[in-house]
Amino acid sequence: MGKLSTLILNARHKRILSLIQEHWFRLLAAMGCMLVVAASTAASAYLVKPVLDDIFFNKDVTMLKIIPVAVILIYFLRGLGQYGQEFLMNYVGQSIIKRLRDSLYVHIQELPVSFFQKERTGVLMSRITNDVNILKSMVSTAFTSALRDCFTIIGLIGVIFYRDWRLALYALIVLPLAFYPIVLFGKRIRRVSTGCQEAMAEMNAFLHETFMGNKIIKAFGMEGIEKKRFFEKTQKLFRLEMKAAMVRALSSPVMEFLGGLGIAFIIGYGGYRVITGVSTPGTFFSFMAAVLMLYDPVKKLSGLNNSIQEGLAAADRIFDIIERDSDIAEEAGAPEIPSGPHSVAFRKVFFKYDTEWVLKDINLEVKSGEILAIVGMSGGGKTTLVNLIPRFFDVTRGAIYIDNTDIRKVQLASLRKQIAIVTQESILFNESVRDNIAYGNPKASEAAIQEAAKAAYAHEFIVQFPKGYDTRIGELGGRLSGGEKQRLCIARALLKDAPILILDEATSSLDTESEMLVQKAIENLMQGRTTFVIAHRLSTISYAHRIIVIADGRIVEEGTHESLMALNGEYSKLYQMQLSNGEDRPQGLPRPSSATLSPG
Ligand SMILES: Nc1ncnc2c1ncn2[C@@H]1O[C@H](COP(=O)(O)OP(=O)(O)OP(=O)(O)O)[C@@H](O)[C@H]1O
Ligand SMILES: [Mg+2]
Repeated sequence: MGKLSTLILNARHKRILSLIQEHWFRLLAAMGCMLVVAASTAASAYLVKPVLDDIFFNKDVTMLKIIPVAVILIYFLRGLGQYGQEFLMNYVGQSIIKRLRDSLYVHIQELPVSFFQKERTGVLMSRITNDVNILKSMVSTAFTSALRDCFTIIGLIGVIFYRDWRLALYALIVLPLAFYPIVLFGKRIRRVSTGCQEAMAEMNAFLHETFMGNKIIKAFGMEGIEKKRFFEKTQKLFRLEMKAAMVRALSSPVMEFLGGLGIAFIIGYGGYRVITGVSTPGTFFSFMAAVLMLYDPVKKLSGLNNSIQEGLAAADRIFDIIERDSDIAEEAGAPEIPSGPHSVAFRKVFFKYDTEWVLKDINLEVKSGEILAIVGMSGGGKTTLVNLIPRFFDVTRGAIYIDNTDIRKVQLASLRKQIAIVTQESILFNESVRDNIAYGNPKASEAAIQEAAKAAYAHEFIVQFPKGYDTRIGELGGRLSGGEKQRLCIARALLKDAPILILDEATSSLDTESEMLVQKAIENLMQGRTTFVIAHRLSTISYAHRIIVIADGRIVEEGTHESLMALNGEYSKLYQMQLSNGEDRPQGLPRPSSATLSPG
């Protein structure tokens, strides 16, 4: 198990490294800059000896002229090196972030509908915003300091050995001692950081849901309880963040204490060597300066381990998504479906989301141009049935055919191109009204857009908007009514002009007047198309050629309004129920016997 997880990690490390690889020339230049910075640090430690021994003890006047100039030069080069390294490494870091964000988004977009039903929106957003940022700080900050600090440490250790190799050997015994707690802290940080990020994602998801559902919160007077639930989340985050801060805060004093031990030893032993005349004060102080300067890069390296651990934890969460495969696959070289009228057939279709069968033995042939109405009690499987046609989900058993070709054997994009959908929830984007109607159809002419809007009975209210077709949906605030939104969605489906049409409870949330308008718009939409229309209100299916009744995942009845009424079964029960509830209106009743099937 342990081995397996390291194997997976290694593959992921390679992916991160391959992201960095393409910037090898920038990395090389940055490394050059880091070398300059490291060399300048070592040089300033080195210079302590000539300053002390030559200037202060021997009063050497030439050195008095050379050394200040050397110091100026060293610090100038150091500044240049630092700037170059910062710029280059940030460039690399930021471009990796962009790449990662892009590929996350691309991948998430390609995941099937089932993925979005399982994952919470806020959590997914957190992956693309927070986690990617943490990975960035690992790459651009940590990677930089890793190289620079390693170079600096090597340079300073070089000075230490050059000045007094015996003392250096003794002093370096302390270093491995310091490494052990670094590893220990790193593991702990990684664990705590994972908890923090998960809590953060959780909070994001909560915010997203409560802001979206704000109306319901107000209507049910849940403000107080939601506030409390939010406080619980921030409290949890607070505790976790404090835990992380404590681990981080502890790692530095522990390092410092170990460093202090080393310095105490150097003062004792090194001072003894100066007093006994084996060494000079210049050598001692140069040595000491190098050791003190070592402290900073070593400490940063230990912090670096922390950010690497945090970054790897974030990388795991990111790659968990990137490595997830879509189960809605497309065969290589699958043929395109040509545009034109299509028939659709369900043959022995069974479907389950998890364990229970939601659709059982569905057999259904819909001819091209036929309008099929699907009715039935709530939860019967109507939405599930139509969701199988554009392959939002794949059948568990059996198959669905378009013109006698299995839909799993054709190009997915071309399949979806043949289908226009109006869903129950009217989903619009914060673009202009025009762009919403032309969604997926960017080349549509102004005339075509207006024609679609007119056919959807939307043109009249659109022209009354402050900027007409240019008004953005967001600018309208909450002003669009349910019926208006639906008519915009219908206009969008009309403009797509696809041969197969799916309408899922398209008139469920409307008042009588707007229902009539939407109904007219839908009738326009259905003309000559293979149509699946789901309706709760039987008044909205008067134009159907055929009606099927779905109950508990099966087609229990099938026929015209008259034949189904004559059966005196499920359909007539539904019909009677609606009549007695007064939901139906006389003018909305199915037309007597005019609903005959016209062969497509
Ligand atoms: N993503 C899902 N995961 C698991 N079960 C689901 C999922 N979506 C729907 N179901 C279940 O499948 C069954 C059929 O749901 P479906 O939405 O197809 O019913 P419906 O006939 O459209 O109902 P309604 O008339 O209320 O819209 C229900 O029992 C529902 O709980
Ligand atoms: Mg439904």
